[in-house]
Amino acid sequence: MENLIEAIRRREARIVVVGLGYIGLPVACMFAKAGFQVAGIRRDSGKIAQINQGICPIEGKEPRLPELLAEVIRQGRLKATTDYKVCRKARVALIAVETPVDKTTKKPGYEALRATLQGLGQNLQAGTLVIIESTIAPRTMETVVKPILEEASGLKVNEDFYLSNCPERVMPGRLLANIENCSRVVGGMSPETAQAAVELYRCIVKADLDPTDCLTAELVKTVENTYRDVQIAFANEVAFLCESVGADVWEVRQLVNKSPQRDMHLPGPGVGGHCIPKDPWLLIHGTGDDFKARLIPTARAINDSMPLHMVELVEGALREVGKKVQGARIAVLGYAYKENTDDTRNSPTIPFVTRLEELGAEVAVHDPYVKGYNDELEKVVTGSDCVVVMAAHDQYRELNLRDLKTQLRIPVLVDGRNIFEKEKAQVAGFIYKGVGNVHFF
Ligand SMILES: NC(=O)c1ccc[n+]([C@@H]2O[C@H](COP(=O)([O-])OP(=O)(O)OC[C@H]3O[C@@H](n4cnc5c(N)ncnc54)[C@H](O)[C@@H]3O)[C@@H](O)[C@H]2O)c1
Repeated sequence: MENLIEAIRRREARIVVVGLGYIGLPVACMFAKAGFQVAGIRRDSGKIAQINQGICPIEGKEPRLPELLAEVIRQGRLKATTDYKVCRKARVALIAVETPVDKTTKKPGYEALRATLQGLGQNLQAGTLVIIESTIAPRTMETVVKPILEEASGLKVNEDFYLSNCPERVMPGRLLANIENCSRVVGGMSPETAQAAVELYRCIVKADLDPTDCLTAELVKTVENTYRDVQIAFANEVAFLCESVGADVWEVRQLVNKSPQRDMHLPGPGVGGHCIPKDPWLLIHGTGDDFKARLIPTARAINDSMPLHMVELVEGALREVGKKVQGARIAVLGYAYKENTDDTRNSPTIPFVTRLEELGAEVAVHDPYVKGYNDELEKVVTGSDCVVVMAAHDQYRELNLRDLKTQLRIPVLVDGRNIFEKEKAQVAGFIYKGVGNVHFF
């Protein structure tokens, strides 16, 4: 272990990062920038060629990442491959593959994690520090990661190699800044392992690094995302309530948050992304018979219902101008789940559009960051009966409402992100509906 820590301090420990997506790619770049020799593994050889040319595969506004990738590739500090044999030279292996849940059963879908552990295990050298950065259900380190690695490698944890769980706290749109500035929980299968992982992350993280055991680290990550999901569900419930009594949830929220220690979250058209919709299911997976989650599945159900509520808002708004959804031309702004990113995973736009089309609407989707939807905005909205905001991209915030109105057949605006002030939209001549701000009567 001392030998490993010394190699980390001298930047001599070679690092492998398995999974070069939203998490793995920036992490690999940061370690390369910090002076380590880094190899990245991912399955998709097309993207690997792109990365090895220094071209960032992540679209959207991701400050400094394209430049940093180009720099570390040029310097020869990072190289991507599909071949797990590079693990044989590594002293540190980080795993950052996707960890979704099954759509129906909500159980963890660890196919990528298991495949990665097999690939790594077959090439694992004694003395390696293996760190799981992926978000995993409590006890996964003990029941999945450890047995697969031990069996595939023939090595024993804490004797021949070391295991750590250091979950990420980043968000697309601020990947590098979050890696540098967010504190991290660093779980280890032994206190010494946690300490070695702290030494490693100290090379790229400026904030607190909190050593603990693996179970606590698994819990902290899944709890913090579940906290967010439950808070958003509460905000959405208050939005429904405000619609029912004819109030404006945005004004209510602003005033509630003036009260000390209140942090009412934003209501919206639904919760998307790779993490928040599935991490609550990871948190409650594998608990004993003595525990039955009640609040967490209810919050998930509320948030999952929001895209369909957006459809109801569209129906209500069109009704005011004597139109039905069937046959209406609806322009949807935003396919990515989050503003100024290209991340469409679990985007609420997907069920929203599906439902509109089932009802017979003619739907056109625009997103400046998503290939296939990045046509000129004016072309997409022209002739529509209704414009719906699903993502708060800067381009939409900057829209001139008077110009927008002239492009539409009927000026109906349904704002799922509260990016337009209702009064201003009404002055510009729109029928305006927003989540928690409808005034149908
Ligand atoms: N995206 C986020 O904002 C975020 C934030 C915090 C934590 N996380 C967690 O980090 C993990 C990774 O998320 P992500 O957003 O980077 O996912 P991603 O889908 O963007 O990236 C996953 C990568 O793993 C690769 N991969 C999958 N199976 C592989 C295999 N068998 N061998 C080699 N490579 C393989 C894929 O090719 C892809 O490059 C997840 O557990 C997620 O919950 C994500």
